[in-house]
Amino acid sequence: MSADATGAAAGAARVNPNAPTEETVLAVEHYTDRLFRFRITRPRSFRFRSGEFVMIGLPKEDGRPLLRAYSIASPAWDDELEFYSIKVPDGPLTSRLCHIKPGDKVLLGKKPTGTLVLDALLPGKRLYMFSTGTGFAPFASLVRDPETYERYDEVIVTHTCREAAELTYSRNLVADLINDPLVGEMVEGKLRLYTSCTREPHDHQGRITDLIESGKLFEDLGVKPLNPATDRGMICGSMEMIQDTKALMIKAGLTEGSNASPAEFVIEKAFAG
Ligand code: A2P
Repeated sequence: MSADATGAAAGAARVNPNAPTEETVLAVEHYTDRLFRFRITRPRSFRFRSGEFVMIGLPKEDGRPLLRAYSIASPAWDDELEFYSIKVPDGPLTSRLCHIKPGDKVLLGKKPTGTLVLDALLPGKRLYMFSTGTGFAPFASLVRDPETYERYDEVIVTHTCREAAELTYSRNLVADLINDPLVGEMVEGKLRLYTSCTREPHDHQGRITDLIESGKLFEDLGVKPLNPATDRGMICGSMEMIQDTKALMIKAGLTEGSNASPAEFVIEKAFAG
């Protein structure tokens, strides 16, 4: 074997088939000093189920990638990938990621996964998606997927933030769905977004847990309280929000599901950092 051939073989051996791919930033939109969304190219080989998350990142100065888990906010059918992110001033990734511009490169992991998927739930009549902060991201994917409306008669998404400005992404996205060529007709009369704020006046006030516990959520929506015979739930927010909302699901008689064992509700932590 020539020296050249040996070098090529050694080089080939170092290629990691699971290494992230380099994708191009297509669009960036900032909502507040804490929140933004961005869209990137999607490799043809990248497959995922609406609601899943994947590793996203940037190369570090030392050449090694800095990656964090991000829920994919775009639906499985979309040609591009969308992400909804917090900006943490001293966060190792988001403090850099928030400066990206169209044309820049970001790293995309190859293995999307997660439990906030329709397959992890048993069939039902009404699907609730409970979110706080950037926990809305996986639901931004699911509300744009026709399968959500094929499986459920009613889809209710709740989004709670500290301030109304932090609801811009969810409110614009749901309002624009009426004009969506794929799901526009399906969402009419089926999809409802219920927003609340905890630290400034808004149409609805208070934590989602308090609104569930007091029954005000169901009163406002004009539906019966949670019932395992008809209702399914997905929960995405901070660790504490998940634990507290999960306790209310269990109290209402719903059992937790997973990909391996579908049931009546599923949970996932909203990612940040
Ligand atoms: P609060 O303002 O009362 O803390 P954050 O921006 O900190 O991620 O919070 C997003 C939203 O989640 C806020 O409205 C916050 O309410 C709410 N929240 C925080 N902890 C919980 C919890 N344990 N259960 C329900 N909602 C929560």
